[in-house]
Amino acid sequence: MELRSAAIRRLLVVFVCGVFGYVVFYNSLLMDRRGSLLHDAHLSYGGAAVVLRDGMVLPDADGALGVDSGDLQSLMGARQMWTLGDAGMGPSEMPSTPAAAAGTAAPVKDSIRSRLEPGFRIANGGRCPERGRDLRLVILITTAPGHQRQRKAIRLTWGGSVAQRRDVTLLFFLGRAAEPHQSAVDEEQQTYGDIVQGNFVDAYNNLTLKSAVMLEWLDTFCPEARMILKTDDDMFINTDNLLKFVDVHSKDTNKLFGRLARRWKPNRSVKSKYYLSPESFAGKYLPDFVTGPAYVMTGDLVKPLYQATLDAKFLTLEDVLVTGVVADKLHIKRVHAKEFINDRIKADTCKFATSVSVHMVKFEEQFDIWKRIQDGRTRCPQYVPTGG
Ligand SMILES: *[C@@H]1O[C@H](CO)[C@@H](O)[C@H](O)[C@H]1NC(C)=O
Ligand SMILES: *[C@@H]1O[C@H](CO)[C@@H](O)[C@H](O)[C@H]1NC(C)=O
Repeated sequence: MELRSAAIRRLLVVFVCGVFGYVVFYNSLLMDRRGSLLHDAHLSYGGAAVVLRDGMVLPDADGALGVDSGDLQSLMGARQMWTLGDAGMGPSEMPSTPAAAAGTAAPVKDSIRSRLEPGFRIANGGRCPERGRDLRLVILITTAPGHQRQRKAIRLTWGGSVAQRRDVTLLFFLGRAAEPHQSAVDEEQQTYGDIVQGNFVDAYNNLTLKSAVMLEWLDTFCPEARMILKTDDDMFINTDNLLKFVDVHSKDTNKLFGRLARRWKPNRSVKSKYYLSPESFAGKYLPDFVTGPAYVMTGDLVKPLYQATLDAKFLTLEDVLVTGVVADKLHIKRVHAKEFINDRIKADTCKFATSVSVHMVKFEEQFDIWKRIQDGRTRCPQYVPTGG
């Protein structure tokens, strides 16, 4: 009896040590100290020699692969876990996929490119003269076909104040619409000439396609613009402050400015508007990103962001994809600027007077806020751009 339990204990110790040793050994094979992946890792698993190459499990040179597929699945699952933040490293330092780490252009399944037909139903390329060489700022606003009143409110308030300038251009971006909206959009375009319509069905789930169309438009017609604001039609933009902000940063490159979301976790609740399935994003943390309602990018980013967004795997959350996953892959600096509030705030005139962007609810409020910051009756602190 004594002898047998001692033997079992010894066996257990050997087993635990073995598992522990294996984990440590395996981990050290896959990552160097800064967490980057080795392209090829040779290891033995269950007695068989295996080569891991860019995330693929291949038999070793001698071709013998005596591992059953269930074991391989768990092997790959464990690896996935380790590469995605469980090693105590920040998500932005971590390559999210082996292919991203290796910098290879392995075709991505369900990429943006595979979903989006290039080109425009309404292009309005003429809104960016001289490829944007003389433009200080391009303002691109996501909107939906049925949001005529939101567009009208913007044209009559902050949008109108910059649309008349020669060094600024402003456009609304939407997708295809069913009747009667499509005719209304065409009519609106005839009147104002400030609409770009992409070749996709306008729907909430297609917001990332809208962002890709924005980048396509910039890349096609406006690649020399210095600064770009991406915003939504339910935002109040303090255009005077925005111009001060972009002027202070006009020499900057490789930057995205806005409200920085650091180490946010993906929402796994299917009821959430921000739900992300583990299939579309497997990591424990999202890469740092600037939130979608309003962000500014430096003009040099247009081409790389556009190309890399096309090759990215489709994901419904526009900001997570473009300013997070893709920006992270391209090592774009994401800079927090406090004047991008991007939340609803109480009707405090000075808040509006000293910020660049504020999230709103109703289009009627645009008129009231615009009037209040124009009339100068409330004494507010001077706006000082972040990073100036
Ligand atoms: C956009 O969304 C709609 C509905 O969610 C869908 O039917 C359509 O195929 C999507 N994609 C494109 C490219 O329009
Ligand atoms: C996810 O979304 C739900 C519903 O909107 C919310 O209650 C919950 O707090 C969110 N979780 C995280 C981790 O953000």
